[in-house]
Amino acid sequence: MKMLLKSRRLLIICFILCSMIAFTSCRNAGEKAQETETIADEADDDSINTEITNTPQTSFESTAKEPEVTKPEVTKTVGAKAFTEAYKETGDLPSLAEVYKDKFRVGVALAKMDIENADKAQLVAKVFNSITCENEMKADFTLDRAATLAAGDEECPVVNMRNADTALSFAKENGLQMRAHTLVWHAQTPRWLFTIDYDNAPDAPFVTREVMLARMENYIKQEMEYVNANYPGVVYAWDVVNEAIEPGDGQEHYVRTTNNYWYDVLGEDYIEMAFTFARKYADPDQKLFYNDYGTYEKSKLFPILDMISRLKEKNLIDGIGMQDHISIDYPAILDYQYAVNKYAELGIEIQVTELDINTTDNSEEVQQKLASRYKLIMTILMNCREKNNANITSITFWGLSDDRSWLNNAESANYPLLFDKDLNPKPSYFGVLQDDSIKIY
Ligand code: GLA
Repeated sequence: MKMLLKSRRLLIICFILCSMIAFTSCRNAGEKAQETETIADEADDDSINTEITNTPQTSFESTAKEPEVTKPEVTKTVGAKAFTEAYKETGDLPSLAEVYKDKFRVGVALAKMDIENADKAQLVAKVFNSITCENEMKADFTLDRAATLAAGDEECPVVNMRNADTALSFAKENGLQMRAHTLVWHAQTPRWLFTIDYDNAPDAPFVTREVMLARMENYIKQEMEYVNANYPGVVYAWDVVNEAIEPGDGQEHYVRTTNNYWYDVLGEDYIEMAFTFARKYADPDQKLFYNDYGTYEKSKLFPILDMISRLKEKNLIDGIGMQDHISIDYPAILDYQYAVNKYAELGIEIQVTELDINTTDNSEEVQQKLASRYKLIMTILMNCREKNNANITSITFWGLSDDRSWLNNAESANYPLLFDKDLNPKPSYFGVLQDDSIKIY
């Protein structure tokens, strides 16, 4: 009898233990299911097509530190829209600006001749809501030497914005906005801006730092005042300094020294001075950007983060411009994602300012790969935005159609953009829309 009672007790204990185990695993499974549902709901709301998981997280400590990264997994496809099918049926091209209107501006870089082409101008006004001058707002185009010599003021070079007027008026008339590109850059800037008497001779001596600071201030002041007086509300972002970080030059803060007259005459604080003057003359709602290529390279990412942190402490900067002249297989998407998240951690705006994807191959197969790469970049940007609060405020493509890309040269044609030479949308256009028809490899 005693034995019987003992076995019954044992049986009861076993039963209770088994029930507890079963309850715990049910609960875990339930929670997982609920989590998945929440993610799916969020993604549905925002039309994200694909979620990339395992965002690498490392803190900004030293330039030497290599971040740990893990392979992203494409886990699901949700909320996609069949833009390609709809376009085939109706012939009506969905507008990028419209599709992304609640998220960021979508823009394109244009030359004056693009705007003067009625078909191109019409297409731009239909699908984009932001433009950038490909060249017409660079110092080579805005500084007027003849007028400067005539004015005879050693501290005030004369700015003439006639080359940029076409784009500025086009934006104003069509309700588009503009990224103003670019104020202070080592390239496409005349040497006479830095010399005594604005002398054009190749070996003419430079002015003093004091005179150069006055010239820099007057140059920035005139350009900003002209734009804001004549085209109020058109410019929303200024590229104040372009491409000032060059680790290969060996300078303490990795500031570019090669072929950089700004550095030669002013020293490394030319960057801070440019932002100081820009802040002084910009409209309060205009955002000030540092713009560069290779912003996802670790060798540039960390010096840029460091420079931006210092400028941000003084409230001189609002954002990073990631140029993104990339190719189909470079950079690795994880390095790209990592960089976007690192800039996001600084709490600044992020704008993709010059996106194009280099390929000399116009075959159907490679153009599909191009489309896939565009979709992946968009997906990563959306994920950084949604999951890591990356404040991405605009995405600009560097050119409208393949015939006018800066990547074309005498040896080979390039096919990097969203429209072909006849202004037909390419698969890459639908990649940018994150369309279902475009596979991510
Ligand atoms: C850099 C500049 C741009 C343009 C491209 C190439 O990225 O910032 O203005 O000149 O090179 O066209």
